[in-house]
Amino acid sequence: MIEVIKLGGPLGAEIRGIDPRKALSADEAKALHDAFLENLVLRIRGAPLTVPQLRDFSRYLGVLRPHAAKAYHDKDVPEVVIMTNLDANGVYDKVGAERGVGWHVDGTFQQDPTKATVLHSVALPDHGGNTAFANMYQAWDTMPEDLRRRIDGLTAVHRLRGRKAYTQGIVSAAEMQKMGTVRHPVVRIHPETGKKAVFVNPHHTLQIEGMTREASDALLEEIFAWCERPEFQWEQEWQVGDTIIWENRCAWHSGRADYPKNQLRKFYRTSIFEFGSASTHTH
Ligand SMILES: [Fe+2]
Repeated sequence: MIEVIKLGGPLGAEIRGIDPRKALSADEAKALHDAFLENLVLRIRGAPLTVPQLRDFSRYLGVLRPHAAKAYHDKDVPEVVIMTNLDANGVYDKVGAERGVGWHVDGTFQQDPTKATVLHSVALPDHGGNTAFANMYQAWDTMPEDLRRRIDGLTAVHRLRGRKAYTQGIVSAAEMQKMGTVRHPVVRIHPETGKKAVFVNPHHTLQIEGMTREASDALLEEIFAWCERPEFQWEQEWQVGDTIIWENRCAWHSGRADYPKNQLRKFYRTSIFEFGSASTHTH
């Protein structure tokens, strides 16, 4: 029998009583999905998975698609991304290690954003490297009325790496031209629960439509300052063999880079969508 144990924060629950390495019954799969919608972040502890086992388990949550960054695919299972801070020679890979650090939502630069992400820990440093989550239903529900009034109904433009691509020179002008942009509501109605959640994020949101860059930046900073309040947050302290499933439609997440860089930190990851689709990426 599936057990759902809340972890004491504004989101997050541990699931016990199912084995992610085995096929789930229809009732178990439904209970898992219901717990996901209610708690936004789920943890299953103490069950090391192989790459194919993670792929098969992830399919209970929705449809898998290979990630845009092909370099990180598992060689046999393209739906699974290998995330690691050390390259094949044990040398620190700054790009690989710093993916996912800072508050963001996976895949909002796509027309059809990611529903959920599943992350499974394979190797961990001896301390640090938590993953933090923030509840964007709660950020909306408790937001001061004046700010709610100013942002509800607005639309934001998203692009891979958002405003950072402007300010940090990560992407060349020519590449920026080629990259598509997509539009999403600043406050979005969750397609399954019908509840409203803040749906801009510091990483991939480029600009609010119909405003000057300056006005848009100022408003985004005001929204982000609210959404980053600690009362919306909970942190996962990883153990090897943990599987975490998180919402990308009503929660932010951020990896912490405060771990010893010379120690291996390795995860398997899948990206889950609501529907199958041939055209996944707009850039
Ligand atoms: Fe992420």
